[in-house]
Amino acid sequence: MPVSITSESPVKLEADWLIVIVSNSESLSPRVKSIDEATGGVITSLVATEQFSCKPLETLCIYRPQGIAAKNIILAGVGDASTCALRNFRHSLLAALRQCCTLPEQTVGVVVDDSVTDGLTSEAIAGTFADAAEVAPVDADIYKARRARSEFANATLYLPAASDAAMAALSKGTAIGQACVIVKNLVNRTANDIYPESFAAESLKLAEAVGLEISIMDDGQLAEERMGAMLAVAQGSSRPARLVKLSWHGGTQDSPKIGIVGKGVTFDSGGYSIKPSDSMISMKADMAGAASALGAIIAVAKLKLPVNVTAYLGLVENMISGNAYRLGDVLTARNGTTIEIHNTDAEGRLVLADVLAYAVDDGAEQLVDLATLTGACVIALGEEITGVFAGDSTIAAELNTASQAAGEYFWDMPMHDHFEPLLKSSVADCKNVGPRWGSAITAAKFLQKFVGDTPWVHLDIAGPSWADSGTAWRDAGATADPVRTLVEWLSRKT
Ligand code: BES
Ligand code: MN
Ligand code: ZN
Repeated sequence: MPVSITSESPVKLEADWLIVIVSNSESLSPRVKSIDEATGGVITSLVATEQFSCKPLETLCIYRPQGIAAKNIILAGVGDASTCALRNFRHSLLAALRQCCTLPEQTVGVVVDDSVTDGLTSEAIAGTFADAAEVAPVDADIYKARRARSEFANATLYLPAASDAAMAALSKGTAIGQACVIVKNLVNRTANDIYPESFAAESLKLAEAVGLEISIMDDGQLAEERMGAMLAVAQGSSRPARLVKLSWHGGTQDSPKIGIVGKGVTFDSGGYSIKPSDSMISMKADMAGAASALGAIIAVAKLKLPVNVTAYLGLVENMISGNAYRLGDVLTARNGTTIEIHNTDAEGRLVLADVLAYAVDDGAEQLVDLATLTGACVIALGEEITGVFAGDSTIAAELNTASQAAGEYFWDMPMHDHFEPLLKSSVADCKNVGPRWGSAITAAKFLQKFVGDTPWVHLDIAGPSWADSGTAWRDAGATADPVRTLVEWLSRKT
């Protein structure tokens, strides 16, 4: 979808919608003032009479205003300008954009009061705009005959000065937004539709479209590669496991080889440690780590970033059957570690154990894994914050900085050594779970056994990758977090 930046007068824009984003600030900046004046003071009078009070996520439609070329205005508020400028701006913009795309092929212009974006660079504004224009129409109603929203025909952002940097940010935002759309759609698709083989087939299609190198390992090859932990999880399902490897060689010989490992449990029933229905209902989304790794590397390829990255997607379904793995079973992981199973619902770490070890053997020099790994991390940090488990403090610091620029929330979690002995087993090298307390941390300590000396960070995305309820700015369902941070991190590597 075409997006553009202009510094001409928004009064003359011939579009279906003109979005005007304002804050509580006393005065309007010139661009917004020009719209107010052309329309006979419609904005100031709605504010004066408190029919519009600029509250966060508040929107008001003004149909067929006089004096401007656009057919309709949508006023959108952000509340006080000072707090969380990037997120406030993104959320209000999304809330407004979602109202403009209930008819097909709509055209839209966006004007932002300077107070709203105070402290943001024009790159950040342009990137957020392009991203939001891609993402706003894409909701979770993917299986409906008639979907609530459609893509825009085009979108225009009004900036006081359109620089080269802002134009570059526009393309970057578009690539990120498109990657987020891919991730949201994949994660929202159901487990009878997206399972290891179909996920691999989708990856192949997407990889070929952007020039990524791809290879897909089937269960026979995984057995040859001694991936005994991952295969044990898969063995209860009639859908065989797959490992998808996607590579982008944009860097030089000297650039570090970065590996991104994604947990791709296409459905997590819990196995014999079966989940109650209320916890199982959203477990089609237990592949969000793999989907986000895929989305991030697609964006990297579209942007042709000068980095060397490989994404490893560990795809399995955790089911119950006469062939499923049992409690008490002892598995041998790829690196030789034997694991006693105390809970078949702690399956993600078994998949990651083998895929992380595979990535190390494959030459990865810096590793990040993304996983909807523990409910405990959601208890600790809530639904919007990614837990950062720093096996390596340099990578963790880079990711934290990138998350701030990307407008996503990351938070450092502890990794103290005293959690490690909690995984001791009397019959094998370790158990797959520790006690209830601190179980997001023991999960991370478990993963650490499989990365050797390779610098590595584990991101627990069980909370932020999925929204249980919708808001004005998005539907309930997949969120595509933390794709924006990953792409930002990789674009800063250059
Ligand atoms: N996929 C779940 C974690 C999860 C929970 C993701 C809620 C998203 C929302 C994971 O495989 C799991 O079941 N973890 C267990 C671990 C436990 C058995 C140690 C958990 O968190 O309860
Ligand atoms: Mn589980
Ligand atoms: Zn799981």
